[in-house]
Amino acid sequence: MPGSQAGLAAKIARHGADEDKRGRIFNALLRKRGLEPVAGPADTDYTMQLEAAGIGLTHARLRREEELTEADIVTYLAHSRVTEQRASEQIRALLRHAGDRPDIGRAVRVISADEDNHLAYCHEELLRLATARHGEVIRATLRPLWPRTPSTATSAWP
Ligand SMILES: [Fe+2]
Repeated sequence: MPGSQAGLAAKIARHGADEDKRGRIFNALLRKRGLEPVAGPADTDYTMQLEAAGIGLTHARLRREEELTEADIVTYLAHSRVTEQRASEQIRALLRHAGDRPDIGRAVRVISADEDNHLAYCHEELLRLATARHGEVIRATLRPLWPRTPSTATSAWP
């Protein structure tokens, strides 16, 4: 993390840990049913489609042992703002349809709360950064996503 954004490191690490936890929860649910996990179809991998279109930071960049710039952090958060809104809405739909099922309801509620938290922190951090002269980077990151981005994600940046 760049020194100016060091306070974000714990939030981003927590975010990553939550996503790993989500994978473990889904794997445990599959195991309980005697099923093996399989890779999802590539055309449903929204995050990788965005990466292939040059939107956001690449996974390779995120894995490099090289300090991110402040602009990288803004790009990362803007991209996550969109993907987390999508995740939050998808898991809320799952919660509506399966939240009261005894076998998966608790897992879905835990994941839904995590996704809502991810969306909230990405949005709050972007608002903070937008007032600290990063509004243009935020708009530039979100602009290519415009046709696929909920209006609430694209209208808030000064
Ligand atoms: Fe998430």
